[in-house]
Amino acid sequence: MSDQQHRATIGVIGGTGFYSFFDSGSEEVVVDTPFGAPSAPISVGTVDGVQVAFVPRHGRNHEYAPHTVPYRATMWALRSLGVQRVFAPCAVGSLTTDIGPGTLVIPDQLVDRTSGRVHTFFDTSAVHVSFADPYCPQLRTAARGAATEAIDGGTMVVIEGPRFSTRAESQWYARQGWTLVNMTGHPEAVLARELKMCYAAVALVTDTDAGVSEGEGVSEAEVYAVFEKSLDMLKDVLARSVVAADAIADCDCAQGGHDVDALLGSVG
Ligand code: ADE
Repeated sequence: MSDQQHRATIGVIGGTGFYSFFDSGSEEVVVDTPFGAPSAPISVGTVDGVQVAFVPRHGRNHEYAPHTVPYRATMWALRSLGVQRVFAPCAVGSLTTDIGPGTLVIPDQLVDRTSGRVHTFFDTSAVHVSFADPYCPQLRTAARGAATEAIDGGTMVVIEGPRFSTRAESQWYARQGWTLVNMTGHPEAVLARELKMCYAAVALVTDTDAGVSEGEGVSEAEVYAVFEKSLDMLKDVLARSVVAADAIADCDCAQGGHDVDALLGSVG
């Protein structure tokens, strides 16, 4: 592939259990960034004629736990290949009996309950991006159109992990009206916003969280099993989302006073 062929405007970040996207014909790009290596080499391939960059969030062999994922390097690497729009599939627990395992949700809000993660590119200048609506409305529309059964909206609380929540924590989250719980949705979303990239989470419910269920609570095995069962469906949804996203007009995600090209230039 030439350099141009290694570029893509749409990115997909695979979550737990989602380590490859293209059946064939993709090429790997090893990208270095000022923040170190991304979680894996980026695969660039085409989906129905649309050039897409794919990276598995946790690495190819799930070597990065949610709190050790190199979020800045991964987002920077995608941006440096030309990516402007990112779909972020992820495994989530449900905080309500109304939403069962296997359900897809396109969240519209997040709550950050992580601690100690680096969550900005701007360490040496005061940049405060708007984040009232953390997800791109147009990418959300594209994903909803691709996943007609998906639940439209919901608040995803992002916990530090890597442990799951206690029953008391989980019940507290649910009492706030939050519907989903996850470990990776932050700082990914805000880093995308800082890089002026559109971003939408595509959440696959893998379990009912401890405060809602009466059994043993969530197990890692349960999360993996549901994700594996739903992986083909999720890949299909993402393929359709990517094609829909390629056709959408501009939105406001690239607004904001800061100069990303200067940032890329100054750190790169
Ligand atoms: N990811 C998948 N299920 C989860 C849960 N119950 N809590 C936090 N992250 C999750």
